[in-house]
Amino acid sequence: QRVVVLFGGQSSEHEVSCLSAQTIIKNIDTDENDILMVGITKGGKWILVDELADIKNNTWREKGYEVVISPNAEKKELIILKDETYKTQKIDVVFPVLHGLYGEDGTVQGLLELSKIPYVGCGVLSSAVSMDKLYTKIIVDDLGVKQAEYVGIRRDELKDMDKVIQRVEAKFSYPVFVKPSRAGSSCGVSRADNGKELIDSLRLAADHDRKILVEEAIKGREIECAVLGGEEVVASGIGEILAAADHAFYDYDAKYNSEESKTVINPEMPKEVVEKIQQASRDIFMAVDGFGLSRVDFFVENGSNEVVFNEINTLPGFTSISMYPMLFEAAGIDKKELVRKLIQLAVE
Ligand code: DAL
Ligand code: MG
Repeated sequence: QRVVVLFGGQSSEHEVSCLSAQTIIKNIDTDENDILMVGITKGGKWILVDELADIKNNTWREKGYEVVISPNAEKKELIILKDETYKTQKIDVVFPVLHGLYGEDGTVQGLLELSKIPYVGCGVLSSAVSMDKLYTKIIVDDLGVKQAEYVGIRRDELKDMDKVIQRVEAKFSYPVFVKPSRAGSSCGVSRADNGKELIDSLRLAADHDRKILVEEAIKGREIECAVLGGEEVVASGIGEILAAADHAFYDYDAKYNSEESKTVINPEMPKEVVEKIQQASRDIFMAVDGFGLSRVDFFVENGSNEVVFNEINTLPGFTSISMYPMLFEAAGIDKKELVRKLIQLAVE
């Protein structure tokens, strides 16, 4: 198979994607596959990357040729623009290792559908729904899985800030979490402990999306579960996030820059709670019409051990410290096998 690994991208998670891509590329079996590495700059330019080292050294943007996916569905090819001429390259499958907007949200998936090129992971609808926290809420509401109470706010409503604050305060006491409906790696997410902070939090979230979600704060452990499959879906064991003490929550900085943030695979947890998380992960993945892979994030409430759904990520991180590959590794599926399965699901 000729596999195109797409990485980088136009979202706030561009750098995370560059890290994830390195793990994926290293674990694609080169006896069976030809790899074409295609980086997307923050501005949206697609570049054919020569060597893995160029990704590692962050030099890929200056090198290489510009490429485009041919929209001609009969051809399934990549068009390589070389100076004044062009060359084409047949491709079999694309692995979008893109996080966040313009990659994890169904847009790139739509482009690949149009070109009839098979691709790894979720399709247009499931990607779009899972990227949008407000829409995911609506779908999960129907499943009987518990989730944090929330208020949805449109950016234009912030013109009457007093009214918005009143609406939030009528429903919750502080602290609350404020999130852009569509963002990843906690970009634009913040905690508000009072009315003044709420105003700042809403404005911050509004910089990222025109739809904002205010949620009650759940007191509990942060637990994640990985799913893999097509018609048959398997759930991994669980992993726990221990955010560093100096971070208010597992934010972008805690995720990628803190030495102290730790992940624990198969932490202590009653068996029936683990099973409930696994069942909910499969149910949610299927309810959003998921395919291939996702990581489903929960809280397990202190005291009651109630399982509360937080969010689903259809292209979860694959960095060296990411939960998704670690969870399957612990279940006996190493990274090579995992990548092989994901590619196989896409092409069969
Ligand atoms: N959005 C990041 C990459 C994750 O969920 O792992
Ligand atoms: Mg996410």
